[in-house]
Amino acid sequence: MKGFYEVDSVEETWAVAAELAKELRPGDVVCLEGDLGAGKTTFTQGLAAALGVPGRVTSPTFCIVQEHDARERREGRPSLLVHMDLYRLGGEEDVEDIGWEDYLSRGAVIVVEWPQRAGSLVPASAWHVGFHMQKGEENRKITIDSGRLIRV
Ligand SMILES: Nc1ncnc2c1ncn2[C@@H]1O[C@H](COP(=O)(O)OP(=O)(O)O)[C@@H](O)[C@H]1O
Ligand SMILES: [Mg+2]
Repeated sequence: MKGFYEVDSVEETWAVAAELAKELRPGDVVCLEGDLGAGKTTFTQGLAAALGVPGRVTSPTFCIVQEHDARERREGRPSLLVHMDLYRLGGEEDVEDIGWEDYLSRGAVIVVEWPQRAGSLVPASAWHVGFHMQKGEENRKITIDSGRLIRV
């Protein structure tokens, strides 16, 4: 999945996320890039619902990392969605300390807001989802890219 999507509601953002969720594999990293209020956490709610996470996904801004069990235990599918908001962290060392590598080796998917803080920990194969908005409007332009597609 790669491309450009224009959405006009939260529900449409969830629908784009659900499409991406189908492609996620254990150990994937999804970087969410965009301004405050652009829809990063909302998109994560859509990913979580599509992966069978029960309940509501809220912003991890104050707790940095939240783990969500994916109940849909199918072969080759991620069993854990780890939602991080690195806004308050200093850099790579802090990100390592919260168990980045550990999560990936356990087969989780890491969905990360403010991924710049993770620096070189972000693998070349990561998904990049960008959000663009005009303040006060529900319209969002969402771009999805995967490093995996440029690898041979
Ligand atoms: N199309 C849309 N997609 C996502 N969020 C939207 C959309 N239209 C309006 N919103 C609103 O914008 C806000 C996005 O907030 P949030 O997902 O927490 O952003 P971020 O995590 O990027 O700071 C929410 O209040 C949501 O209801
Ligand atoms: Mg957020």
